[in-house]
Amino acid sequence: MTQFTNKTVIVTGGTDGIGRALVLNLLELGANVVTCGRSQHKILALEAEAPMGKICVINADVSVEKDCERLVDHAVKMFGGIDVLINNAGISMRGLMEDGGKGIIPVIKKVMDINFYGAMYCTTFALPHLIKSKGVVVGVSSIAGYRGLPGRSGYSASKFALQGWLESLKTEVVEKGVHVMWVSPGFTASNIRNVALNKQGEAQGESPLNENDLMDASTCANIIIDAIAKRKRTVVMTFQGKQTVFLNKFFPSLADKLVRKFFFKHGELVK
Ligand SMILES: NC(=O)c1ccc[n+]([C@@H]2O[C@H](COP(=O)([O-])OP(=O)(O)OC[C@H]3O[C@@H](n4cnc5c(N)ncnc54)[C@H](OP(=O)(O)O)[C@@H]3O)[C@@H](O)[C@H]2O)c1
Repeated sequence: MTQFTNKTVIVTGGTDGIGRALVLNLLELGANVVTCGRSQHKILALEAEAPMGKICVINADVSVEKDCERLVDHAVKMFGGIDVLINNAGISMRGLMEDGGKGIIPVIKKVMDINFYGAMYCTTFALPHLIKSKGVVVGVSSIAGYRGLPGRSGYSASKFALQGWLESLKTEVVEKGVHVMWVSPGFTASNIRNVALNKQGEAQGESPLNENDLMDASTCANIIIDAIAKRKRTVVMTFQGKQTVFLNKFFPSLADKLVRKFFFKHGELVK
């Protein structure tokens, strides 16, 4: 028996990366898991790997309000309630405001639609069930939710918005027994950089980082699961992530210089 045995957990975006690792690790802990993604081949691959009866994978796009309602309804119909909602689905972007022109506007809107509004829709539909179960709402944020990152302005905006919104909600529902928290992975090996939108709104199709050097998705998922079990307020992951958040809070001008140095070479955005 574990703390998650027979608990029902919704993980949005559970067909790849950190979400997929969350799904598989939660199933191992005995949870019932309901998850979603948009690509049918990834849905089928996950279904083939996961044990039958404990998982439900549906094709849903979190930026579509009705899809989020359907996701929550599925969880309640299949397992009778919801104990934990992990708002994990997210996309990134890479493009400078000065280069993007008008074209960058729909890119930023798309990132906001998925990363912020997607989490807001799912949480809104799940909230009555989470009040009943005195459950947990989790936002998968980022270091970019504490420190604006160049070339990822829309991504940073979406994560700042997510954290601010969750902090408000936390204070609203605290006396109902619902725990609201967010977790901030540092760079973690996944598909996120490969599918990050460029300034034309297309997947950039490469990662500017060496993915082998990054935290692996399963380790990240286990840190998130442990934080949920302990009902932590927030978690910031990786040494680099913790250092960035600390420096930005206490030495913001130094953080400006270090962040610029990390992402730019000879005036060009290289990461
Ligand atoms: N990896 C990192 O370095 C890192 C660092 C900090 C924070 N994060 C955060 O961690 C979360 C997971 O990212 P990841 O790195 O695991 O990315 P990933 O490998 O690209 O996986 C993203 C997952 O979300 C799904 N997804 C994307 N858009 C969706 C939508 N509109 N509706 C439903 N599902 C959607 C994807 O499936 P489909 O594309 O098939 O829909 C996929 O299953 C994100 O919120 C991200 O911001 C990641």
